[in-house]
Amino acid sequence: MTQAPNLVVAIDGPAASGKGTLARHLADLLTLRYLDTGSLYRATGLTVLKASGDPTNEADAVKAAENLDLSAFSAENLRSEEAGVAASHVAFIPSVRAVLLDFQRSIASNPGVAFKGAILDGRDIGTVVCPDADRKIFVEAALEVRIKRRLQELMERGEPVIEARVRADMTARDQRDRDRSVAPLKPADDAWVLDTSNMNADEALAAALDHIRGTGPL
Ligand code: DC
Repeated sequence: MTQAPNLVVAIDGPAASGKGTLARHLADLLTLRYLDTGSLYRATGLTVLKASGDPTNEADAVKAAENLDLSAFSAENLRSEEAGVAASHVAFIPSVRAVLLDFQRSIASNPGVAFKGAILDGRDIGTVVCPDADRKIFVEAALEVRIKRRLQELMERGEPVIEARVRADMTARDQRDRDRSVAPLKPADDAWVLDTSNMNADEALAAALDHIRGTGPL
């Protein structure tokens, strides 16, 4: 019996670029297993904080990554600003990234029989985790637009909204993500760049679907 092809889609981009929403919608429409790889780093960061450790400390962060229990955190916990900041610190540490790599690749290669493939979103999916992905999309948006989206998201969740703090956190996280030596945030050479600055979620989804469908059979 021939095995159905396993479509792998890599979605990368900075915080609040719209990549998570896009990846979730594409996963539903194309019957792909979705992995939000940021949640792995967020859970690692929160695990360190829960143990009163320091997210910038390699030993604390590696221990948390090795013993990761995603079920210990609610989606709300994981999406908090505290988790995002802790995540960007643990993600800076190469040995933490190495621990989380195998799990991400195993989902891409074995998404499960119910799925036609996998879609992973993060910072280094097209460059490091799945360099052979069938489709690579790098989602961009202007900093001001991303700050506005994050403020809106926090407001909807009832979290404290202090614009200056969100701006400072996002700028610092962007810089840590882009400047780190291992797996920095950057488009893969063969990625298609989608700028969502002037698009809503539906428009971004339509553009991404056109791209995915237009560049080869599914
Ligand atoms: O996408 P996000 O906001 O959930 O990501 C949280 C942090 O995790 C982000 O600052 C960078 C890091 N991250 C990463 O380094 N590599 C990934 N593949 C995903 C996230």
